[in-house]
Amino acid sequence: MIEERNVELDADVLAAPLELPCGVVLKNRLAKAAMSDSLGDGAGRPTDEQVELYRRWSTGGAALSLIGEVQVDYRYPEKPGNLVLWPGADNARLARLADVGSIDGAQIWPQLGHAGALAHGPISRPAGPSAFNIEGLQCDALTRSAVEALPVTYARAAAHARAVGFNGVQIHAGHGFLLSQFLSPLFNRRSDHYGGSIEVRCRLLLEVVREVRAEVGSEFAIAVKINSSDQLQGGLDEDDALVAVSLLGDAGVDLIDISGGTYFPGAPTSSDRRSSGPYFLEFARRARTVTDTPLMATGGFKTRGEAADAVATGATDIVGLARTMALDPDIAEKWLHHVGADPQFPSFKSPPAGGITAWFTMRLTALANGDEDSFEPSLGEAIEAYEARDADRIATWERTFGIRSRPATIE
Ligand SMILES: Cc1cc2nc3c(=O)[nH]c(=O)nc-3n(C[C@H](O)[C@H](O)[C@H](O)COP(=O)(O)O)c2cc1C
Repeated sequence: MIEERNVELDADVLAAPLELPCGVVLKNRLAKAAMSDSLGDGAGRPTDEQVELYRRWSTGGAALSLIGEVQVDYRYPEKPGNLVLWPGADNARLARLADVGSIDGAQIWPQLGHAGALAHGPISRPAGPSAFNIEGLQCDALTRSAVEALPVTYARAAAHARAVGFNGVQIHAGHGFLLSQFLSPLFNRRSDHYGGSIEVRCRLLLEVVREVRAEVGSEFAIAVKINSSDQLQGGLDEDDALVAVSLLGDAGVDLIDISGGTYFPGAPTSSDRRSSGPYFLEFARRARTVTDTPLMATGGFKTRGEAADAVATGATDIVGLARTMALDPDIAEKWLHHVGADPQFPSFKSPPAGGITAWFTMRLTALANGDEDSFEPSLGEAIEAYEARDADRIATWERTFGIRSRPATIE
């Protein structure tokens, strides 16, 4: 039997504003989750296309847009299309991005990223909590003094974000990037006071949160994206992730965004996942029992009914939508005003690892250019275009930041 939904009730649930502990108000419950859009110019600066992309989400009704992978240190980027918060940044363009993302009372926050051991090899010398030299992962271990410098690096980036007009930041501690590596017993084998029990593995993240808060003050939003589990044997598991959630709540974070999976080669990722239904609601329900901090759950939401149920049942406060917002940038407006159908997801036959994410990244470019109606590449074509664009930007990145890739030396 097909359930008859009360779409007006669903819309009411999703339309309710949410005031965060810092006082920033999210005007409804639908957020555009962080997506690395690869639309930076290769020198860490926003492009006109990228500004246009964020305009589409704010005019499309999203309460919050998170700009994926905005780097706090140009030496460890996720991709050469990332933005970078550094002294050479194009502040006028960043301000423009903050401006268009704030249309109609929307919020736009950069996601502060540092890829650590998973930094993009062609323009980086990857380094994380511990050294590895295994298939798919070659990286150095960060020295103790390099780790101790990180909280200030994040705080400087947050201050930069505030100075150009953003009202908040999201600290990326998920998906196997640097702060997630520190949380994970698989990546973090340190024997100093950053490695050991989960409380100790949380130390760096908590120091980052405290330093960022000290820099930006009490009225600026600080979110953290964290894995409910790495979905890797020996990685961060749910019980440890709950401890991290509880500590983050105590540290005065405004919003905890729950995700899972990592980009460790061959591991499952959320952005390639194809199972139906929201992915992390069970964990979000458990997280509720250990913190009062507002929660966002990101992953697997494809319908208004799923989003409304998640909020109405109290499992989450905010619903994070990545691929759904890539398919339809106006989906928030539609769900809030009960018009239009849920987006149709493309089906992919035997996609290679990373293929779906690459397809969606190219879809973001189509949205930015306004030609999404004619966006019909095969998976192979999308992957090829995605890789070719990254390869093209490497020389620009190297010229701008004076970086050359070197093979990591492992002791
Ligand atoms: C093209 C693409 C790029 C992504 N980039 C990021 C990113 O930069 N930071 C991040 O935290 N998550 C990133 N993600 C993951 C999403 O935020 C989200 O966690 C995941 O896609 C599951 O949500 P969904 O089912 O709504 O797509 C990306 C996802 C996609 C599809």
